[in-house]
Amino acid sequence: MSTPPRHEQPQDAPRRPVTLTKLAEMRALGEPIVMVTAYDHPSAKAVEAAGVDIVLVGDSAANNVLGYTDTVPVTVDELLMLTAAVHRGLRTPLLVGDLPFGSYEASDEQAIQTAHRFVKEAGCDAVKLEGSPERARAIVRAGVPVMGHVGLTPQTATALGGYRAQGRTAERAKAVLDEALALQEAGCFAIVFEAIPADVTDVMMGHMEIPVIGIGAGGSTDGQVLVLHDLLGIHGDAHPKFVKRYADLRGEMVRGLTEYAEEVRTRRFPGPEHTYGIAPEELQRLHEQIPVRQRA
Ligand code: KIV
Repeated sequence: MSTPPRHEQPQDAPRRPVTLTKLAEMRALGEPIVMVTAYDHPSAKAVEAAGVDIVLVGDSAANNVLGYTDTVPVTVDELLMLTAAVHRGLRTPLLVGDLPFGSYEASDEQAIQTAHRFVKEAGCDAVKLEGSPERARAIVRAGVPVMGHVGLTPQTATALGGYRAQGRTAERAKAVLDEALALQEAGCFAIVFEAIPADVTDVMMGHMEIPVIGIGAGGSTDGQVLVLHDLLGIHGDAHPKFVKRYADLRGEMVRGLTEYAEEVRTRRFPGPEHTYGIAPEELQRLHEQIPVRQRA
């Protein structure tokens, strides 16, 4: 009997929790890594059921679930509450918490304290930050695995000239690569490349030794990440070029809600099957105690 390769589990074997070692192994074997964002408990359970490898509670929660226009205002406490809810819904994916703007830049001490909160209070396996190789190094030294993020980094989008692809000149592409290499050298276990021309990604990939997860960075990265609300069509907002829609949940939500409203207004809901009963003798005793009156 032949033995399946070590990375392959029999079909019915329970999925094992995804570790940093497993991710490095997937990269080495050329097995694509699947990452997605999630911001609440039911989404976490769906993501778990789908067998995703990495879940990021992104600071994109700011615009996707909290109603801010960008990621800058979201606070550590807001993200901790969402991240803890996601943690309660997961068993196997690696859980990464996103350090929000203003929670790690000021000093190594601030960065370490914030990272420790994500691990201790929200159950994260790792944290992610944008740029900032020195802060990444400090957090890694303090015992928390760090995922880097280069290219379009939304927390500093204004300084980058807005929400647009990065690395579109040779100089800018070299600067993005230098930052990625600095994060790798600082000890990051993985890195996100966001909104980078595919040809530039191809060049950069030759220099990376850690798993690279792309979003709008072409197909040559070790894995892909998308925002849950973008890929499932949960909001009706315009989405970036790199998003592929796999479902139209907003359309389905509006359809269901409209039908519910219609059935309430026409008294077709609730039906007998949604209604509790009472034994006839108990109803009789109730009538004896409380006289039946017409509604005023
Ligand atoms: O916050 C987020 O959703 C992210 C992903 C785009 C990687 O940082």
